[in-house]
Amino acid sequence: MNFIEPVLEVAAAHRQRTGRPFVTLSYAQSLDGCISARPGVALALSGRQSLKLTHKLRAEHDAILVGIGTVLSDNPRLNVRLVDGDNPRPIVVDSRLRLPLDCNLLTQESGRPWIATIEKPDKKRSIALEAAGASILTLPSNSKGQVNLHALLDKLAGLGINSLMVEGGARIITSFLLERLANYIVLTVAPVLVGGLRAVSDLGQSDPENCLRIKNRGHRWLGEDLILWGHLATEPNDEQ
Ligand SMILES: NC(=O)c1ccc[n+]([C@@H]2O[C@H](COP(=O)([O-])OP(=O)(O)OC[C@H]3O[C@@H](n4cnc5c(N)ncnc54)[C@H](OP(=O)(O)O)[C@@H]3O)[C@@H](O)[C@H]2O)c1
Repeated sequence: MNFIEPVLEVAAAHRQRTGRPFVTLSYAQSLDGCISARPGVALALSGRQSLKLTHKLRAEHDAILVGIGTVLSDNPRLNVRLVDGDNPRPIVVDSRLRLPLDCNLLTQESGRPWIATIEKPDKKRSIALEAAGASILTLPSNSKGQVNLHALLDKLAGLGINSLMVEGGARIITSFLLERLANYIVLTVAPVLVGGLRAVSDLGQSDPENCLRIKNRGHRWLGEDLILWGHLATEPNDEQ
């Protein structure tokens, strides 16, 4: 299944044109749109073949991003293990520098994480995290006092990141969609009903005309899971 290579072939040109990396949102959800049973608790939804696809997608991107909530609940490694390929640069969005010093991202051998945080970070925590191998990216905050994701994408482009895979969790997925910062989506839908934590919360749209749509879409079954992919409009009424 090689739908992503042609898309990412233009990632460098996309960065040059827009000043931002090409952003792929990719996560696994249940039939009822949940990514875990309860907030803060990991739930394995993907089958073996879809997991392999996730690792292939990781290998195709320059960097991979999650929110601090996902690190605190899942302690992910975010590297490439199930296929051959390079590890993407791990990035954690973490306004209050809560990343634990003993998390996998800091103790494993594969690429040290970049932590995206807001201006005036706690000095002691920054020093401790840098001593543990992290690099701190200091960014302006948004109206909620969290990391301004527009500024983060500008910064990542400046650091040479052409393509960014965003894996979750719920708040990060919602922020990227709400701010229309994702260019592409690869969704794994597992054939279960969970009744738990929704991947996407309020996107502020009541008019179906203005809802985000997937364009140039494709789909395929991988084992029991349905994989859906396609472009996301980054502007309202953007026909892609
Ligand atoms: N099924 C899947 O594919 C999948 C993938 C990943 C995660 N998950 C699940 O998702 C759950 C975690 O989701 P979550 O919503 O609690 O955490 P999250 O989305 O991973 O992280 C959210 C945190 O990121 C920080 N943040 C900083 N700037 C932000 C911004 N502009 N927008 C949004 N967040 C920002 C905030 O904490 P600060 O204010 O402290 O910075 C926020 O609470 C877990 O249960 C995990 O298992 C599932």
